[in-house]
Amino acid sequence: MDKNSRRAVIAGNWKMNKTRPEAKALLAELIPLVKEAGCQVVACVPFTDLETALEAARGSNIAIGAQNCHWEKSGAFTGEISAEMLREMGVEYVIIGHSERRQYFGETDATVQKRVRAALDAGLTVILCVGELLEQREAGITREIVGMQTRVALGGVSREELSRIVLAYEPVWAIGTGRTATAQQAGEVNHYIRTVVEELYGAEAAAALTIQYGGSMNAKNAAELLDQPDVDGGLIGGASLKPQDFAAIVAAASR
Ligand code: PGA
Repeated sequence: MDKNSRRAVIAGNWKMNKTRPEAKALLAELIPLVKEAGCQVVACVPFTDLETALEAARGSNIAIGAQNCHWEKSGAFTGEISAEMLREMGVEYVIIGHSERRQYFGETDATVQKRVRAALDAGLTVILCVGELLEQREAGITREIVGMQTRVALGGVSREELSRIVLAYEPVWAIGTGRTATAQQAGEVNHYIRTVVEELYGAEAAAALTIQYGGSMNAKNAAELLDQPDVDGGLIGGASLKPQDFAAIVAAASR
């Protein structure tokens, strides 16, 4: 199976941006711009925007996602949101293991694994983020780091469930910095991730897996990154807040 038969996914990660009226306006502008998209379009919005976004995107080709979820179904976890709560609202996607959660909120490979499990059990599709720090790249251990993150996060995920996983390779040094990985760097690590998945699940499952690149992807550099044989889409931060730019990335991924 080659790139053309894989599902391309362009997902916006709005992070901690947009009030409800702002979210509504952004989606209203975006919907007509991406209505002919030849790829899956997702907007991952703050929890407080989910209901507004679901309502605004109804009948469009934009799926709505959250940016995190807890691993328990319910209980005494002040401030947390469960995967079941998201699913009940009609949310389809959830980002798990974003490097900002790993860096600032104590997320570990072990908790990423538990969140992936809970999200899959609730029926969500997971955008699972992996990626190395600058010092890890400079130390020459990118593959070890990304390989370990991938293996731990997928621990307990069945071959069938893999169809509800989208991998996102996001080198931490490229996120929000304007410093994009070169297309070659992105292509190499994405390819490596696919070989790890092949070891775990076999060639067919690995070939079918969507693997995004994320980290300062924008309207200008998207086409070159998406041209890499193992780059099947993008997880877009900053540029997802600008409808024209996000739509240009969607167009670059459409085929
Ligand atoms: P960025 O963020 O596009 O602003 O670099 C990407 C991400 O964090 O998912």
